[in-house]
Amino acid sequence: MTVLRSVVVGTGSALPARCVTNDELTRTVDTSDEWIVQRTGIRQRYLADASETTSVLGTRAAQAALDAAGLTAADIDLLICATSTPDHTFPSTATQIQAALGMQGGVAFDLQAVCAGFVYAVTTADKFLSTGSAKRALVVGAETFSRILDWEDRTTCVLFGDGAGAIVLEARDGEGTTADRGVLSASLRSDGRHREKLYVDGGPGSTGTTGHLRMTGKEVFRFAVGSVTDVIADAFRVAGIVANDLDWFVPHQANRRIIEASADKLGIAREKVVLTVDRHGNTSAASIPLALDVACRDGRIRAGDLVMIEAIGGGFTWGAALIRW
Ligand code: UT7
Repeated sequence: MTVLRSVVVGTGSALPARCVTNDELTRTVDTSDEWIVQRTGIRQRYLADASETTSVLGTRAAQAALDAAGLTAADIDLLICATSTPDHTFPSTATQIQAALGMQGGVAFDLQAVCAGFVYAVTTADKFLSTGSAKRALVVGAETFSRILDWEDRTTCVLFGDGAGAIVLEARDGEGTTADRGVLSASLRSDGRHREKLYVDGGPGSTGTTGHLRMTGKEVFRFAVGSVTDVIADAFRVAGIVANDLDWFVPHQANRRIIEASADKLGIAREKVVLTVDRHGNTSAASIPLALDVACRDGRIRAGDLVMIEAIGGGFTWGAALIRW
């Protein structure tokens, strides 16, 4: 049976110019390189200056993905930007990226699912492409979390970084089997009862301010390792695949310990895990496309490989998608 598949045809990423090591942070925050590395695996992160806004980073990543795909903005008819740190309350960061790329047609919108935003955005784009509603999509994850961090709170400020990543998805005919290239299955969940565990204490409709990120780290950690396997198992079941079939596991990059515990629990070999949290920190919706771009450019992920992406974020929101590259 012929079906439409959303096939990845290019990746790109962008980081701010300034790289901040753990040692540099210890000059202003009561922390240590040893604590951060031991508890999280993070060694450095990139922090945006005032000119490096979410849309600026997102545009650079999107342009790099277009270049990798050999396409131009005119070839794109859907642009989704996953972000929780938009340049402005409105218009959307996606429309700002659209304008900056010179894309005059199509549809562009932001998607807000915090750290799970990129998995949500890929799943949403796949709905457009697999139903013939769009032909080529730019899916961007872009964040400047440094703007919403409380730099007096050492339990959160050392964890996050800024950056952006993007992929281009193209609708192509497939056979309807797991040998097809493209998004093979995806599963999303959310449960708003967990709001207080990870949230921002402000917003345009409440305080009228941007607010700061607040997190009960231990509870998020427990949930991330303990409860998100439902979406992964679902994505495997729908595709008719088992963990051993995976070539690469590219999870949200929040904490090395969470990533390794999840891989072990799922029975995914450590050498199949793409890990970038050491160099980028937690870049929320940007973390997966940043990691994908690293692993594509260094030659690890190749056409035909079976890749699983997975994330959990504030809300809670969580999801997983299986993609044959
Ligand atoms: O992307 C969204 C999803 N977010 C996450 O996945 C984050 C999930 N949570 C985590 O990654 C971990 O819970 C953290 C890395 C945030 C914390 O690790 P932990 O092993 O759960 O540490 P903890 O919160 O239990 O803190 C242990 C100790 C505390 O001191 P006492 O009470 O034992 O004396 C903290 O005060 O570490 C202390 N501490 C720090 N020390 C040095 C907390 N932050 C720091 C710090 N530097 N930056």
